[in-house]
Formats: sequence, structure tokens, C-alpha cells
Amino acid sequence: MTVARDPGIAAAANALEGTEAERLADGQLAGGEDELDTSLRPKRLADFVNQEQVTGQLEVFIEAAKRRGEPLDHVLLAGPPGLGKTSLANIVAAELGVALVQTAGPALERKADIAAFLTALEPGSVFFIDEIHRLSRAIEETLYPAMEERRLPVVLGQGAGARTVTLDLPAFTLVGATTRTGLLTTPLRDRFGVCHRLEHYAPEDLARIVQRSARILGVEVETEGEREIAERSRGTPRVANRLLKRVRDFAEVRGAGVVTGDVAREALGLLEVDAAGLDRHDRAILDAIATKFSGGPVGLSTLAAAVDEEQDTIEDVYEPYLLQQGLIKRTPRGRVMTPRGFEHLGLPVPEQAASLF
Ligand SMILES: Nc1ncnc2c1ncn2[C@@H]1O[C@H](COP(=O)(O)OP(=O)(O)O)[C@@H](O)[C@H]1O
Ligand SMILES: [Mg+2]
Repeated sequence: MTVARDPGIAAAANALEGTEAERLADGQLAGGEDELDTSLRPKRLADFVNQEQVTGQLEVFIEAAKRRGEPLDHVLLAGPPGLGKTSLANIVAAELGVALVQTAGPALERKADIAAFLTALEPGSVFFIDEIHRLSRAIEETLYPAMEERRLPVVLGQGAGARTVTLDLPAFTLVGATTRTGLLTTPLRDRFGVCHRLEHYAPEDLARIVQRSARILGVEVETEGEREIAERSRGTPRVANRLLKRVRDFAEVRGAGVVTGDVAREALGLLEVDAAGLDRHDRAILDAIATKFSGGPVGLSTLAAAVDEEQDTIEDVYEPYLLQQGLIKRTPRGRVMTPRGFEHLGLPVPEQAASLF
């Protein structure tokens, strides 16, 4: 590689090392990243960039609930990782001026686990269940009466002497977050009064997020640098923050510490994030569909095996963005490459693939 001859770039490349195995474009929280996430997390509705449809409605519901002195209706937040679900859950509690208690679907194994949470809630609190699609059926069924009537049936004793008593619960708002609404059962989904789907962000909004994060982190970023990072963040605020941090490291090693457009482009190039914001993993998926499966259609499990990824990861993390960008399409027979997908890889569009559209 020619760039290695420039000692500045070589040092910068070393500074970026260790990130190679890391999934830059993955919206999911990586190990050791909680701190960055927490420090950059918007605290109030006014700090939460865009998604006006969501924030606008929430603002009205929150205000109405406060005026009536009643808890807010249960809220379901859906969308790919890194788009702001956890942030919004915290914001809802902050705007209501109540406590937030947080857990996650996989952490609730037994009925006693959820009973412990529910009975200990302060009246009016927000109870946040992340990954709510991963609740077991039994726990889900415990939630129904709790959500509807603030009742919790518990079984006391064992065997012939066992009896059920019903506990009254304090008023609370359940906020559920899920990467996929498709996995929620209808009875659970129906018990949420407010449902919102977070969408990928436009580059202008991501640029505002980069600007805000740069201010908090104390990094100087020029407008062109902001735009460059925003455009390559695959519509995901968490990715934008992560890229900003990497680009800052690069800018510091290179010298001045200012993130100019050139610095951002160079750093992102070294990180193998392409102009559309796709990383190596995205491109591997596209490449597999294009070359191994001649443009598709290919089933999810076959594709997952070919690129050595979990099916869930493909569905939750990679696919939503590739679909949104129009690079692939889902058909009843599987995933297919679009002409745009072929173009992105610099491949000619095969005639038989074009006929799929
Ligand atoms: N609308 C937004 N405005 C500003 N920053 C955001 C926004 N949405 C997400 N972020 C940033 O992205 C990070 C990840 O958001 P988070 O709420 O944890 O996403 P999720 O729970 O959907 O995976 C947050 O720490 C925050 O810095
Ligand atoms: Mg989250």
C-alpha cells in the first residue's frame, strides 16, 4: 500500500489498528462503548435530533399525561440498533419527571424476576424492557394483566396447597424496545397505546448529531468533515458517533487535531468505510449475493452461511440499511440484488437479474 510510506499515515493507521475486527457500521453496542453512548446520549426531547413525527407525538402525549396526573400509555419503540430507542426511553422518563427502571428481555427468565421489578416500582415510573421480543411466553403472559389492569397474579405455595393471590401494582408506563416488531406477538403489541418506528436518519440530521457530539467531546470538526462522517454513517447515530471518535484519533495522530474533509475521507478510507457508508461486512453480503448466488434470489439461511454471519445479525443490522438504500430487495423467494447493488460493486448488471424487476 502506497500510503504506508508516509510516516504520518502509517502512525495513524497503527492508531486505528484493533478496529479492524470491529464492526464499524454495526449499529449494535460494542464492548467498552457504553461510556461513549452514555456521555453522548441526548437527555431531553429538545436534544433528540429529528424523528419529529415521533418526538412531536410523544411531546403531546407526555404533556397530556402530566396535566391529567396519570401515567403515560405504554410505549413501544421499534427500529434497527443505534437509532435512539434507549435514548428515547430515558427521555420519556426525564420529561415525565419520573424514575426509570431498566431491564432486558433475556434477563427476565422466571416469573419471579418480573414480579420483583413490577412490585418494586415507584408509582408513575417508567419500566423499560429492552429487546422485548426476547421475552419468554410465560413472562409475556404475566405482563398482560400488569399492563392492562395493574394486576399481578402470583402463585403461593406448592402442590395441593398452592393458591393464587392477585397483587395490585403501582401505576407505571412500560416502554418496550425491539429491533423487530415482526417477532412480537399480537397480544403484546396490542397492549401498547403508543407505537413508534424509528427510521434511518438523513445525512443532514446525522451532521447535526456529529456537530453535537463533537461539541461534547471537544473535537473541532469542519463542516465538510461533519458531512463526510454523516454521509458514511449508514443512517445510524451510533455509527456516526463511533466514526467521529475514530476520525478524531486519526486527526490527533496526523497532527493538527482538526477534522477537515480530507482528514475524514482519509481516515474513513483506512477504516474501509465506503462512500455509501458500507463497511466490509455489508460489502461481503452484497458480494455473496452478486457472485456466489448470481444476484439471487437466495434464502436468508444460505446467505448467512455463505458470509459466516448469524441470521439475526443480517436481519437486524445489515439488511435494513441495504434494503433502504435500494441495493438489495426482498422477494418471496429470497434476497435479490438490484441493478443499483451491482453498480455499487462496480459489476455489470446481468440481463437475467434486470428481468427480476
Ligand atoms: N435522535 C438522536 N439525536 C442525537 N443523538 C442520538 C439520537 N439517536 C441516537 N443518538 C446517539 O446514538 C447513540 C445510540 O442511541 P441508543 O438510544 O442507544 O440507540 P438504540 O437503543 O436504538 O440502539 C446514543 O448514545 C446517542 O448518542
Ligand atoms: Mg438500546
